[in-house]
Amino acid sequence: MINKKVETTLNEQVNAEIYSSYLYLSMSSYFSSINLAGFAQWMKAQALEEMVHAMKIYDYINERGGRVLLTAIAAPPTEWESPVVVFTATLEHEQKVTGLINNLVDVAIAEKDHATNIFLQWFVSEQVEEEASVDEVLQKLKMVGDQGHGLFMMDRELGARTSALPGMAASE
Ligand code: FEO
Repeated sequence: MINKKVETTLNEQVNAEIYSSYLYLSMSSYFSSINLAGFAQWMKAQALEEMVHAMKIYDYINERGGRVLLTAIAAPPTEWESPVVVFTATLEHEQKVTGLINNLVDVAIAEKDHATNIFLQWFVSEQVEEEASVDEVLQKLKMVGDQGHGLFMMDRELGARTSALPGMAASE
């Protein structure tokens, strides 16, 4: 049976991952609205990945005999000033999520829940990758600026990203 405090914190993380998905889907919609289809696809793939993160934790809570309790998901912002502003917000959001994951590890260790600590290591590594990939896009965006040929080239490049979910193209 899973420790109550660990269960509660894992449930909070399910909410945080679904919010991340919601936030990135909103960013995808923003990119579609300004005719950056490649950026929109990249963000849609990111949104799907966040749902996969949520489901990993959802399944883990059940596997440990816990109870998943779904709670209200906050409404994400819907407008941003530019692509650079979107990716700056994305990096800040991922850094916040890294903090939440680190806190979860701290809770698991404090409660001597070794299985959850091991389960969370995947998320610790994933956050390193997520922050790096978002920062890479942000740095390139800062180089090319918010318009012109460079942005068009980046849109094509980001549009090549495929969905994390088999059988579901991010562009569909
Ligand atoms: Fe689920 Fe982007 O971290």
